Amino acid sequence: MLKLFAILIPQRIYFKNVESAPDFTRCRQRDSKLNDCLKNAVPDALRRMKEGVPALSVPPLEPLHVSGMNIDAGVGPVVLTQNYRGIKLHGLTDSIITTYKADLKHYRLKTESVTPKMEFVADYVMKGRILVLPIQGKGVANITMVNLVVKHDIFGEPIKRDGEIYMHIKDYKVKFIPEKVSLYFSNLFNGDKRLGDQMNLFLNENSELVFNELKESYEKSLSSVFQDVTNKIFDKVPMNKIFLEE
Ligand SMILES: *[C@@H]1O[C@H](CO)[C@@H](O)[C@H](O)[C@H]1NC(C)=O
Repeated sequence: MLKLFAILIPQRIYFKNVESAPDFTRCRQRDSKLNDCLKNAVPDALRRMKEGVPALSVPPLEPLHVSGMNIDAGVGPVVLTQNYRGIKLHGLTDSIITTYKADLKHYRLKTESVTPKMEFVADYVMKGRILVLPIQGKGVANITMVNLVVKHDIFGEPIKRDGEIYMHIKDYKVKFIPEKVSLYFSNLFNGDKRLGDQMNLFLNENSELVFNELKESYEKSLSSVFQDVTNKIFDKVPMNKIFLEE
């Protein structure tokens, strides 16, 4: 989850009149160890942004609030319309970066992160079927991913403004590869406890199948969240203050 990962901001940014400016680590563009520097600087920046950065309108990252997400029914073994509201993502700021490849000439960033435990908690409404079983409910969902590997593929473009170059992110792709997924939906079947417990058991016994069917929708929704957060920074801080030129 990450895009949250977003990433980036590996640098010290000075804010005029802002007392609580986070003190980010700087990385130099020409440094032969740029990628190694970013590997440490990015998670460090994420932790420093736990409570958000009001000066850049970066929201708190722990937890990260996402207003909503709709998933259409789809085809195959899982046919399920889902609507999530008031989403809270917990755990992003505990992520570590395992690889970082910055190709700043082409405004490309490729990175892989591992989030030890990412919890996705939200109000949900859903209706459909999983394999042959009908499922419907309205309550609170908790989808927890353990040792979640996230591959981030980030495409930027230079935007010139007031003599500065900004690296605007125009496309942000993510892939989620969790080691384990657990799912819990409260209040399934209008609160019928027996049916709800059985369904939650069934979902967890088949969590790989269920998650694989839903993964693409989660990836799409979260990559746009990561893109937004990254652009909050990248659209406001010139590129040469994020990746130092000298
Ligand atoms: C979500 O589920 C995980 C794993 O079952 C659990 O550790 C966590 O406490 C739950 N979070 C909430 C907010 O219920």
